[in-house]
Amino acid sequence: MPRAAIAGIGSYLPEDRLTNADLERMVDTSDEWILTRTGIAERRVVAAGEATSDLAVRAARAALADAGIDGAGIDLLIVATSTPDTLIPATACRVQAELGLTCPAFDVNAACSGFVYALQVGVTVIESGRARTVLVVGADAMTRFIDFTDRGTCILFGDGAGAVVLRASEEAGVLGIALGADGTGAEMLKVPAGGSALPLAQQVLDARQQYLTMSGNEVFKFAVRVIPKAAREALKASGATAADLTWLVPHQANQRIIDTVADRLHMPHERVFSNVAATGNTSAASIPVALDDLYTSGRLSAGDLVAVVGFGAGVTWGAAVVRWTKSRSSEET
Ligand code: ACO
Repeated sequence: MPRAAIAGIGSYLPEDRLTNADLERMVDTSDEWILTRTGIAERRVVAAGEATSDLAVRAARAALADAGIDGAGIDLLIVATSTPDTLIPATACRVQAELGLTCPAFDVNAACSGFVYALQVGVTVIESGRARTVLVVGADAMTRFIDFTDRGTCILFGDGAGAVVLRASEEAGVLGIALGADGTGAEMLKVPAGGSALPLAQQVLDARQQYLTMSGNEVFKFAVRVIPKAAREALKASGATAADLTWLVPHQANQRIIDTVADRLHMPHERVFSNVAATGNTSAASIPVALDDLYTSGRLSAGDLVAVVGFGAGVTWGAAVVRWTKSRSSEET
């Protein structure tokens, strides 16, 4: 059976920055409150006219260049997003056209767990022998669905995209994945309007129901419970333990969640990656953006063992354990 390995990685964050000082001018909050409760100092925000697919295309181009291949070599494109350009068609189709690909393309929506879900699909397709090379993108423009009069949510989110090229290989790169969902938690985190349950109408817009609502405390408790569980399951499926990990890369939602998870997994904090201070929560982009940050800054080397763990609306969760097979000087896995 062929196995799947990460052969290329790339990411993109939009240029515009939204700092805590900016938010202080918009809602009743303070830099001190935001830093203490979340660890976030600034986030990036899509420009006027920019959409999720634009972020995805930039990240995908970087990943293709890193893998040393062009679009002709891609057998399947999966975009993980919960903030599509439009409900119809899928954002993946817009990305496919922009990249000049001809392969099948579709979206996966598992909110902030979306990248790990899409990774599982890509790995499984490669292991089945149906494809040799799969482009997996996590991209979200969360700020388009955030109410910038709601201080409980507007401080948390940013925009971005990250992508990996998965390629068939003799040596397994992606060792084990564990996914989960609990739809009874659907009300915890949602965008009430804009779908078939509550189509957009003037009264819906007046009630600001097109924006994300969240029970912050409930999400926090869910996250610190489910992340260690998912990580342990993926480690078990990979025949590894937390002590074997070079890096734990959790979904970048909140520094307090990241620290609590590190403690529960008995991981030294210096081996638990965080860039949430500079990005905020970029949803499905968060994990590949974090991985690319580690890789491009030279802190990830061939042979390193990495666990990535996501959680998000649905509620959903997912963890993957990856043997990093790339070195920055080589284009080959
Ligand atoms: N500035 C100042 N005060 C605030 C702010 C703010 N931005 N937001 C809330 N407060 C106030 C509240 O009104 C409350 O005041 P009160 O005591 O007078 O009622 C007080 O601060 C405490 O509010 P809590 O909600 O209890 O604050 P908490 O410590 O739980 O922190 C937070 C809130 C940061 C949202 C936290 O609960 C959290 O991070 N939860 C997880 C959120 C998350 O990760 N979401 C993304 C999930 S992934 C996905 O799928 C999108």
